[in-house]
Parts: sequence; structure tokens; C-alpha cells
Amino acid sequence: MPVKATAISPANIAFIKYWGRKEGTEDKDVIPSNGSISMNIDNCYTVTTTEFSSRYKEDEIWIQFFGQNPQRVTGSQFERVIAHVNRFRQLNNCDLKIKVVSENSFPSDAGIAASASGFSALTMALAGAFKMKLKLKELSILTRLAGSGSACRSVIDGFVEWRVGYNSETSYAIQIAPPEFWDLADLVVVVKDEKKEFSSLHGHSVAHTSPFYKRRLELLKKRIPLVRKAINKKDLFLLGELIEEDAVELHLVAMSSKPPIFYWNEGTMEVIHFLRQIRKNGLLGYFTIDAGPNVHIICLQKDLEKIDKEVKRLKNVLFTIKNSPCVGTRLISKHLF
Ligand code: PMV
Repeated sequence: MPVKATAISPANIAFIKYWGRKEGTEDKDVIPSNGSISMNIDNCYTVTTTEFSSRYKEDEIWIQFFGQNPQRVTGSQFERVIAHVNRFRQLNNCDLKIKVVSENSFPSDAGIAASASGFSALTMALAGAFKMKLKLKELSILTRLAGSGSACRSVIDGFVEWRVGYNSETSYAIQIAPPEFWDLADLVVVVKDEKKEFSSLHGHSVAHTSPFYKRRLELLKKRIPLVRKAINKKDLFLLGELIEEDAVELHLVAMSSKPPIFYWNEGTMEVIHFLRQIRKNGLLGYFTIDAGPNVHIICLQKDLEKIDKEVKRLKNVLFTIKNSPCVGTRLISKHLF
């Protein structure tokens, strides 16, 4: 019999970003065109409780979005979660209905990888419900299949690389370094906290229509080993330059896809200019931007307070979230219901 299970999982910020599926592979297999590298972030997380029971007459999914009351999930979001639940039902020969309740510690849908923390927490909670003894590799693969590929990085502790692999069994994330290895910080600077116009799912599906897409994949062959090296050598100067290049290229591809996708807004540019300015004064902070307008500032912990204080003075900044590198997905005993 399945048990009630709860998992907590962090979002992750990509230093090298996953953008686009590998040509010739099926969408459902979520095999990326390029490898990606990320760091788990401790203050942006999802907690999810799952319970299969004969008491439930239909599947029920509830999400408590940041600062709001719990909402019942319907439509395509419901279908996406249930498709993943069905994978576990099939694996475990179960036909019981499920109740899922999920809580996010941060604004969803604003380019802070809510789907990465959400789908990794869901996968771990489902595995926990059936007491499945999974190796990390298996957990990463199952999480990747949930829909948000980047979620497969959140299950591993600290600094993580998702290797492309050549099929579904070989595409998963591994650790580069544990969270305590480097005292980096990720200051999430929120300049807009509403739902974004285009999901990353849409972005992946049109990425190959950009004339710059193939060029980006070529450039990544050199950049990926350099980012690994920057982490291993704790070289923020090198890492910073590489992550900014990578983020700009992703957005260049998005902006030149057909139809084009524009994620940046005035606030995004304001933070980018701010960082260029403070670096002139010797304060090292570098930007990276996911599928939304909000900016992640990567800096050393020792500079975090200072940068946070200064960035909050900018006209478009709504609020910030301070993060340290952290462990990946875990089961916990405190249930949400
Ligand atoms: O994993 P998805 O489908 O949510 O896409 C993630 C896309 C980016 O956040 C922009 C990049 C990344 O690697 O996290």
C-alpha cells in the first residue's frame, strides 16, 4: 500500500542553460540539445505532499502559489502532473486516486524555475509514496521525464551538471561539487512577479528556428568545460564572464526564434547596467537570466549584503531573495495535509 509522502526540493539557477530539445528525439523523452550546469538555491523551494487513497473519488491537485490561498489545479497543468502520476501508478501497479498539495516559497512563473523545484519535489514524493529505492541517477531520469527537464538537476546536491547522454537512460544529472564547496550566493532580483507570457516549454519548441541556435551549440562545446573549471577553481571572475555570455546567447536565440520571444523588460536592463557599474568599483556581481525578466546576481557571500542593499534602490526592483548553494531533493516527515 502506498503511504503519504512529502518532499522538499530547491529551484536551481543555470550557469549554462538548457534551451531546446535534441534534434531527432521525441518531445516526451526530454533529451536536451546541450548539456547544462547549475547550482541549487536554498530559499526558492517547493514542498509537495502526495497521498493515494480509496477515500479519493477523483484526482485532486492543489498548489499554494507564493502569498496566495491554495488553488485547485485544472487544465493543461493538471494533465501534466497527472501524466507523471500515471507513470508511477503504472510502475507500481496502483489504480488509487491521488491528492497532491504543493507550496512554493517564491513567485512561480516568473523565471525562477518553479517548475524545476515543483517537478523534482513531486517526483520524490511519488517515489516516497511507493517506498521506491531509487539510485540518484534513476531519480534524476524520472524527474527529467516529468516535463521540466531542468528539474533533473534539482535532485542532486550543490553544483550540478546535466549530461545530454544519447538516449533516455543516459540523460541525467551528476554532481560537480557539494554545496559547501564554494561560498557563492544567488541574489534573485524580482522586477516583475506576474505570470510570464511564454513558458520555457514553448521556448524549447521554437529554439531551432533561430539562425543563432546552431552557433550557440558550437560555442557551448568550449564554454561547458570552462564553467566546470571555473567552479572547480572557485574562479568567480571566469565564471561571471561565462554565465553572462550564456544568458545573453539564450535570450538572443529566444528573441530571434519564430515567433520571437522577449523576456526582458526595463527592470532587467536596469539591473544589468547596475552590475556593470558596480564592477567598475571592484564589487563583483554577475547576471544570469532564465525564461523571464528577473535577474539572478551571482556573487560571493561576503558581498551579498552590500549588493542587496544597493540593488534595492533601483527604480524597478520589487524585492530580492538571497540564496546560498544547497542540497537537492529530500523526503521530509512533516506533511502539508
Ligand atoms: O526545464 P525547463 O523546461 O523548465 O526549462 C528550463 C529553461 C531555463 O530555465 C531557461 C534554463 C535552465 O537550464 O534552467
